[in-house]
Amino acid sequence: MDSSNLDPNIVEKIKKLEEKFKASGQDISSYLDGLLQSDYLKYWEYINLDTLLNLQQPKTRYPDEMVFIMYHQITELYFKMVLWELEQLTSMKEVDPKVFLMKIKRVNRYFENLIHSFDIMIDGMEREQFLKFRMALLPASGFQSAQYRLIELNATDLKNLLPQEDRDNLPETYTDEELIQSIYWQKGATELETGKKTLTLVQFEEKYRDLFLKVIREKQNSNINKIYLQHLQEVPEAEAIREALREFDSLANVFWPLSHFKTAVRYLQGDTGMIAASGGTNWKKYLPPRFQCVIFFPQLWSGEEKKEWGKAWVMKEISNS
Ligand code: HEM
Repeated sequence: MDSSNLDPNIVEKIKKLEEKFKASGQDISSYLDGLLQSDYLKYWEYINLDTLLNLQQPKTRYPDEMVFIMYHQITELYFKMVLWELEQLTSMKEVDPKVFLMKIKRVNRYFENLIHSFDIMIDGMEREQFLKFRMALLPASGFQSAQYRLIELNATDLKNLLPQEDRDNLPETYTDEELIQSIYWQKGATELETGKKTLTLVQFEEKYRDLFLKVIREKQNSNINKIYLQHLQEVPEAEAIREALREFDSLANVFWPLSHFKTAVRYLQGDTGMIAASGGTNWKKYLPPRFQCVIFFPQLWSGEEKKEWGKAWVMKEISNS
């Protein structure tokens, strides 16, 4: 082919490519060879579809265990999307209020989807099957979702994640390690009388303790709550940002926990009482949002709102179920 017939657009692009490769000491011709050899991208390869669809490995023959596995995986993917946004915000060198607002709104949309889709669990499995296959999964529990904890650590200061009664009585000095030991979920999975941790907690800590400590140290001064308090209270978008953060708080710390709690009630509330949870918590006292009262952005709520955290919603939701 006569090169003078080449589309000038293409020639222009080749010139630009040549400059790009030259700038890093590379030879464009080898890269063009590579292009000649390479295959067209296919959808199923790009999204790793075969791997994705092979990640569902039930432990029993009960068909509804598939629903259980897949909905957990779907949730973890959404958690990953939430973290993707939060981590970008908490690592930003300069805070841009517009970007901040846009990303918190994305996070809220992800949580809204999760809350609405929880019916997949609530209505989607036969209880008899669940009560059988769950015994093959002990002592694993959603309690061991590291991403759920990372969302919390990116969202707020560690002190807001302590049990409610400890939040205002922090000692003068403490190490992160001491704090991590008193975080609300540690207490939830520790027997009060003996101080013994459940196996679920012991294994969770073994796997993730170092990661959590690293994230705590990194995010203590750059979590979403701190960014808001230090940089965003006076910007023109402040009101919209406050709204979005309050929504984030209520979606993540009231409505998601509530949908989740409804699921636990549906499957673990026996005719003769409460069925033991796989992670060994006293789940009726642990899961309802009004007991843990986790609030990422306490400055954005009135004293009354904090006192009523989750209460009215819990009663309404449970009486409708
Ligand atoms: C039939 C469905 C489910 C039941 C019966 C259930 C039950 C429970 C129970 C009883 C706990 C307390 C810890 C324990 O003692 O094990 C718990 C914790 C947890 N579960 Fe589930 N769960 C279900 C579905 C899910 C799903 C789909 C997810 C999504 C990832 C999930 C994520 C979590 C998380 C993140 C916690 C920790 C909550 C916290 O510490 O505040 N669960 N679950």
